Amino acid sequence: MTPFVNLSAQYKAYKEEIDLAIISVLESGNLIGGTEVQEFERNLAEDTGVSFAHSCASGTSALCLALCALGLKPGDEVIVPDFTFVATADAVVLQGGIPRFADIGDDFLISPSSVESRISPKTVGIIAVDLFGQCAHYEELKRIADKHGLWILEDAAQSIGASQNGKPAGSLATIAATSFYPTKPFGAYGDAGAVLTSEKDLAERVQSFASHGRGRNGLYTSVGTNSRLDAIQAAILNAKRKHFAAERSIRQKNASIYNELFSAFPDVHTPSILSGNSSIYAQYAVTAKNREILLQKLSQAEVPTRIYYSRPLSAEPCFAHFEHTPEDARSNVNAYRISQEIFCLPIDAFSDVSVLAQKIKSVL
Ligand SMILES: Cc1ncc(COP(=O)(O)O)c(C=O)c1O
Repeated sequence: MTPFVNLSAQYKAYKEEIDLAIISVLESGNLIGGTEVQEFERNLAEDTGVSFAHSCASGTSALCLALCALGLKPGDEVIVPDFTFVATADAVVLQGGIPRFADIGDDFLISPSSVESRISPKTVGIIAVDLFGQCAHYEELKRIADKHGLWILEDAAQSIGASQNGKPAGSLATIAATSFYPTKPFGAYGDAGAVLTSEKDLAERVQSFASHGRGRNGLYTSVGTNSRLDAIQAAILNAKRKHFAAERSIRQKNASIYNELFSAFPDVHTPSILSGNSSIYAQYAVTAKNREILLQKLSQAEVPTRIYYSRPLSAEPCFAHFEHTPEDARSNVNAYRISQEIFCLPIDAFSDVSVLAQKIKSVL
């Protein structure tokens, strides 16, 4: 069976440039920081339309740094989608906060009305996730956040390269965190992440927390951590950036091949993309009531599939002890239903989706 994300085919296609990038970092002796990291941050800020891009160790670390910069305090509540990768809520807990789980809509995105119903006197902010590469409902979320004096953190781990009403993902809230995990649409060849913002104060706090709390005066003004992007990963990302626009077009074309295929099979619901959104399709996720039967057929046809995500976060044991969680969980009906019906198909630029579509058609 072909891989779910064909990273080795990607490497073979860019091998010369990637090998050169790695060798030049090794020869330079600048393994941490340096020109490759600076170039990466400059380009990332430009591509996402923000004033400051601070690279760091991973997307999870980026979320933690952003929450630190926002001043999250122990006991503060943060509203997160019940249906996302676990890191979104982990970061809240790691920084001492309490995650409150909001339901999602049929578009898999955090539901603004559910967010509003979760607000309590302890709520300080909302983490909106651009799930599967599609930007969340920022206009409505901003209205709610402004009304209640909350901040919004954009979890853009899956959405670099997407946009909403012409604005790039990563620039749609006060601050954003993103990941360059290898299987992301714009991925490194190891762990990597970044925090994006146009607010200078927040950018300075992120930079300080990522360097053990070191202030501009050289003193350690707060307790921080070490979260840095390796120069080798920055060099790889700089080389891959040149190909990203072409990869994005192929991902979007792949999505339209699947959309057309499934239009003849009404039992399979294709992703619904909001008007004004351009998705990067980090995942091509469909729902079907008869998921298990379909997955069996696809496996027989040698079509790789993945289930993202098989449970809402509020059903995960690590979040079970949070106050209100059982009530939240019971009322998040979409998150529960969708986790039983969803599955994802290969969408990356190096998977031959026309061939996969033929195989799928033959077994449906
Ligand atoms: C929505 C979301 N948030 C955060 C993360 C964490 O990123 P990383 O794996 O780089 O720590 C991921 C990674 O898969 C993600 O999908």
